[in-house]
Amino acid sequence: MMPAGAVHADRRARVLAQMQPGAVAVLGTAPEVMRNGDSPYPYRHDSYFYYLSGFTEPDSVLVLVAALDARPARAILFCRAKDPDHEIWDGFRYGPDAARTAFGFDEAYPVDELDHRMVGMLSNAPALYYAPGHSAALDAQITGWLRGVRALGRTGVTAPATTHHLLVLLDEMRLLKDAHEVELMARAGAISAAAHARAMRATRPGMIEYEIEAELLHEFRRNGAQAPAYSSIVASGPNACVLHYIANDRRILDGELVLIDAGCEVDGYAGDITRTYPANGRFTAPQRTLYELVLRAQAAALAAVRPGQRYSGIHEAAVQVLTEGMLELGLLDQRKVGSIDDAIDTRAFARFYMHGTGHWIGMDVHDVGVYRNLTLSDKPSRALQPGMALTVEPGIYVRPADGVPEEYWNIGIRIEDDVVVTDTGARILTDGVPKDVAEIEAWMKAAR
Ligand code: GLY
Ligand code: MN
Ligand code: MN
Repeated sequence: MMPAGAVHADRRARVLAQMQPGAVAVLGTAPEVMRNGDSPYPYRHDSYFYYLSGFTEPDSVLVLVAALDARPARAILFCRAKDPDHEIWDGFRYGPDAARTAFGFDEAYPVDELDHRMVGMLSNAPALYYAPGHSAALDAQITGWLRGVRALGRTGVTAPATTHHLLVLLDEMRLLKDAHEVELMARAGAISAAAHARAMRATRPGMIEYEIEAELLHEFRRNGAQAPAYSSIVASGPNACVLHYIANDRRILDGELVLIDAGCEVDGYAGDITRTYPANGRFTAPQRTLYELVLRAQAAALAAVRPGQRYSGIHEAAVQVLTEGMLELGLLDQRKVGSIDDAIDTRAFARFYMHGTGHWIGMDVHDVGVYRNLTLSDKPSRALQPGMALTVEPGIYVRPADGVPEEYWNIGIRIEDDVVVTDTGARILTDGVPKDVAEIEAWMKAAR
């Protein structure tokens, strides 16, 4: 495997090779955001910027200049200057010279020089690649540079005649994970799975949801994950039917299920796992019935993950199994919704399964990448290719209502794993935590 610096340099080279000769690309990282007063939120770099740089300091901008005739391509970093006084308070910063060497850039300059140098670099460049709307501040800066270049018009200088959306190009690249990314995602998956296993073992009726959340956070951090990849969901009993429940402050009662949707971020890459298990270690009969239905739906969806399969085929596989089960169990009334095919066509299943069966995953938990084939006029769902990474997460959520069998009321179940498409099928990155009924019950029994 390539060292980290080489991985990012290789990605930059691939962007440069796709650019117009002599064109300039500009991409900034994320701003620091204050939580209140002078206390910032923990800093998180911009995913696109990190993808091409590996650099995690704020106030940084990447500039790429594509080769033109005899002039070779250049990758240039603008970053914070060294500043011993600030470093006493806020810690180490590379500064341009050390960053250039460590991250393999051709040139690096203090970010204070950005405005001045960009007017020069954009002079006579045929095209500009940037990310309109990604950062209002950088958009305004770019407008200023272009105005500056046009002001030089009478001296014979020309401004870029064309602009391109840089993220369209980067979205396609990010969708296909390279070996370095799959390695990091496997680590994020393994640590996330270990956290779920710890949470499962620690759960007892009477605990408060946040006590379980603390177990997750403990396991994330002790294994070197920098942060949760998103707000952890620890939902007991009826809370499991709230899809984005994050309050995590309810007491867990004996006989209830606990749904945990949590994953960590490792070196910029996300894990995203959901498990649902009984607080006391034993499923009741109705819980088990619904759980096994969702598990069968997940197995069918996972079996659909292979090269050439349409992305939508995964959801269709899950919906088929779930709808069949809903009809069998009387959640859906055949006299009202008709056959399985009718219930699918009319989306009758959506009353109990209202979300999709997954999403791309990578640096962002809901990662970038178009889900359709835009090169065909009817824009069909995209065919899977080796290197695409996605979640597979069917569920069922039963809110109390007339006509719905009472034994299923307030049961919410989701089972979610992360997979990478391989040459022949799928590699599951998150199988370090049980999901079979017998295995969950045995695990939880052993932990008591
Ligand atoms: N945790 C967010 C999701 O499952 O999509
Ligand atoms: Mn997910
Ligand atoms: Mn999730």
